[in-house]
Amino acid sequence: MSEATERVISGLEGVLACESQIAYIDGSAPELSYRGYDIADVVRALSYEQVVFLLWHDRIPQGEELRAFEAELASLRPVPQSVLEMLKALPASAHPMASLRTAVSMLGALDERAEDCSPPELLRKAKTLTAQLPTLVAAQARLHRGLAPIAPDPSLSHAANYAYMLSGERPDVTTARTLETALILYAEHETNASTFACRVVVGTQSDYYSAVVAGIGALKGPLHGGAIDDVMRMLMDIGAPERAAAYVDEALAAKRKLPGFGHRVYRAGDPRAALLRGMAQQLSAARGDEKWFAIATAAEQRMRQSKGIIPNVDYYAAPVFYHLGVPLNLFTNVIASTRIVGWSAHIMEQYANNRLIRPRALYTGPRGRKLNVAS
Ligand code: ACO
Repeated sequence: MSEATERVISGLEGVLACESQIAYIDGSAPELSYRGYDIADVVRALSYEQVVFLLWHDRIPQGEELRAFEAELASLRPVPQSVLEMLKALPASAHPMASLRTAVSMLGALDERAEDCSPPELLRKAKTLTAQLPTLVAAQARLHRGLAPIAPDPSLSHAANYAYMLSGERPDVTTARTLETALILYAEHETNASTFACRVVVGTQSDYYSAVVAGIGALKGPLHGGAIDDVMRMLMDIGAPERAAAYVDEALAAKRKLPGFGHRVYRAGDPRAALLRGMAQQLSAARGDEKWFAIATAAEQRMRQSKGIIPNVDYYAAPVFYHLGVPLNLFTNVIASTRIVGWSAHIMEQYANNRLIRPRALYTGPRGRKLNVAS
């Protein structure tokens, strides 16, 4: 065995890079919990606003405290007009995640207290971006269609207002609750690539906005959050349930990875995918359009038979987002607009107990080369 394979842990697989009290994942059980509460209970029992508070403060707000938190988040939803103008000025060719990344960078440049990384300031920024990212993503959806962005409605909950700003219509209870559940499921996921990117940035004691910009950049990639719109495109390419098996076989024969399958940590099943599968099934039936769910289940079955590879969170989230009316090119942006909660929790935790994150590389290049230096 070469020195490189002995010492390099490829992709940092299994490496414990920090201590954390935010989310627990057991890839073999499988289990996912937020602050010790099982994810299935969390989505059944809590509102989005309660989950946000829980992830940041390690307790579930009730009564007056909850109402005050809901009102504060709602009051922070409007974004500066100059940021909306900037989004409008970007070329249509810009990747929607690049536009979102640019908007967050601009929000940081506009914040006079951007460099203040004290705990109250980190919390203020976390609340502000959690409230504002849905406004930005919904504005992107409207601008792409040549429509004016819709101002947030503070009388609506976080999820209901998000659905309203995306579509222009007050959502029914099912739509609002389905979106809320999806947002909760994507809010946090331990040291995934984008969250780790945020931790690396604040590990240098850089500012909150720089960390979030890095998180958005990492989430954008097709091996991470960028996979979700590829899932929907794949379902569209397959086109019919009876074509799913051949499609999967062909992709595997060509050694092509299928989006929405596989996970670094979950090998026995992603608990979020199980919940989203049920949501996709219910929503498809409610919308009277069961084609995408049927294609997805047929492809899942073939993938399980052929390689035993499990669907990850993005697989059934794709048809859920589709039926919720999220534009296909903004699926990943919607994930970013809720993963901001987890990123913020980790940024605050990293700041509270920081040490510079600086691994080593195993050098495998030449050494001792000589240059002709004129004397
Ligand atoms: N399609 C086909 N084969 C796959 C897939 C897939 N989606 N995922 C893994 N495999 C296979 C690999 O080819 C490999 O097989 P081999 O041992 O015969 O060579 C084996 O499963 C292990 O895969 P790795 O690539 O080593 O797994 P890794 O942990 O490095 O990657 C990842 C995990 C990136 C998620 C991978 O499964 C993948 O590329 N999936 C598709 C992209 C995707 O859906 N990403 C979203 C992840 S969830 C999220 O971030 C929100």
